[in-house]
Order: sequence, then C-alpha cells, then structure tokens
Amino acid sequence: MNPEYGKVWLVGAGPGDADLISVKALKLLQKADVVLYDYLVNTELLDYCSANCERLYVGKKKDKHTYPQEELNQLLVKYANKGKTIVRLKGGDPFVFGRGVEEIVTLINHGIDYEVVPGITSGVAVPAYMGIPVTARHVASSVTFVTGHPAKGKSSVDWQALAKASDTLVVYMGVSNAGRIANALISGGKNEDTPVALIRWGTYPQQEMLTATLSTIKRAMEDKGFSPPALMVIGEVVSFSKQLKPIIQSVKHQELAYV
Ligand SMILES: C[S@@+](CC[C@H](N)C(=O)[O-])C[C@H]1O[C@@H](n2cnc3c(N)ncnc32)[C@H](O)[C@@H]1O
Repeated sequence: MNPEYGKVWLVGAGPGDADLISVKALKLLQKADVVLYDYLVNTELLDYCSANCERLYVGKKKDKHTYPQEELNQLLVKYANKGKTIVRLKGGDPFVFGRGVEEIVTLINHGIDYEVVPGITSGVAVPAYMGIPVTARHVASSVTFVTGHPAKGKSSVDWQALAKASDTLVVYMGVSNAGRIANALISGGKNEDTPVALIRWGTYPQQEMLTATLSTIKRAMEDKGFSPPALMVIGEVVSFSKQLKPIIQSVKHQELAYV
C-alpha cells in the first residue's frame, strides 16, 4: 500500500429506506472527501456528508450507464491518488450483485487501501417490508439469491436445477426475463401455482408489489405495466404477505393482486 494514497471505503447503503444504513456507514459519510453513489442509493443519505464533500453520481440504469465500469474503476484510482477519503456508496450490500469485487481488484492492482462496509441487501429487506419473510419454519427451509441478468459470456443460471433445490428464490434484476424464468422453473418441476411477488422500489415511499403465480406472472406484468427496478420473490413465503403487516412508508404504497 502506498501511504500517500487515500483510502476507498466500499459502503453498503442498504435497500432504500435511509434509516436502514449502518452507523459505521453514516460515520464514514460524515468524514468523506468524495462520495461516488449508485442509482438505487437513497440521495437523502448525502445530507450526512460535510458541506465540502464532493458528491458524484455514477449510477447505472439498464442500458444507461453514466460511467462504464472500467472508467468508474479509474475514477476511484484518480481520487485515491489525490490522497482523498473516498466512499463508494452502493445500493444494498456491495458484494451482492454489486460489482464490488471488480472495483476492489482495481484498487489492489494500484496498491490502494480499501475496506468494505456491508449493507442490508434488498433481497432480504424489500420482501420484509411487504410482509414476506424469505424463510419460515415448515414453509421454506432454503433461500437462493440469484440474478435474472447474468454477466455476458458467463454460463447462465440453471433454473431447472433451482426449481428443485431451493424453497424460496429471490431474483435480482429479473423483470425483463420474468416470463422466461417462470417457464424454466415450471419445466424444472416447480408447481405453476407457486406464488410470485414482484416488488418495485421496495422500502421507498413509492414501493409497490404485484402478486401472481408462476403461470400468470408474465401476463400480470404486461397488464399492469410493471417495470424495473424490482425484485422477484418466488415461493410459498409470498403468501405471508396476506397475513403479515407491511411496513408502509406512505400512501403511495400499492399492492396489485393478480388472480
Ligand atoms: C445491481 S443489483 C444491486 C443489488 C444490491 N447490491 C443489493 O444488495 O441489494 C440491482 C437490483 O437489485 C434489486 N433492488 C435493489 N434495490 C431494490 C429496491 N429498493 N426495490 C426493489 N428491488 C431492488 C433490483 O432487482 C435491482 O435491479
């Protein structure tokens, strides 16, 4: 490590609700010289930064990246070379489908010090805000976190195997492939009546949830015009949302049941 360089903190901002950030992350925001933050980070969190902290949006929406990943990695190097304290603020947890490792490898290659501050991943908190536990005794003993949008050139997810291997599936970035995923799970042996929830902007005031089944989810999405960013939860645990109280942030909270 070069002592002249600054340090990069890869910090999980949590799933959206600003109160779900960790105390450690908040303290780092207060002392940061630069904060580089993502699309799904709640910008209210930037209010914790000092007045002279530089705040830079480096978010990626589907097909719309402010900085390609390689440029973003180089930005971290550039600020670190200036001796700054840098917070790389990422939605949820930096190591859950967050490309945190790619950024760290760049830092290691440039001899720059770094530290990771885990965050609450959306895969657990977003369903919880809708009254859906990802596991429940007698209902779901296993849960798998999986991407619906694997990296180009990588082997795709074996949905047919997952159909049998996991009681609950939590799919990140799965909205545009939801129909294909549902069909693959059905052909892998999952019951077509398995409940599915799509939760959009979870833990934010505008959170909304669409419920259907594996056989109806694609039609339901088309009928309701459901769009990303959303998380898909597949499994019997979804039925708890009828029984458990959601954590409602505002009157905009909506539940769209599709029968
Ligand atoms: C690139 S991944 C990042 C995941 C993040 N590192 C985490 O731990 O939650 C982005 C995907 O996470 C899911 N996601 C993140 N925050 C969400 C939220 N507040 N509501 C619904 N889905 C969310 C969506 O599937 C979105 O497309």
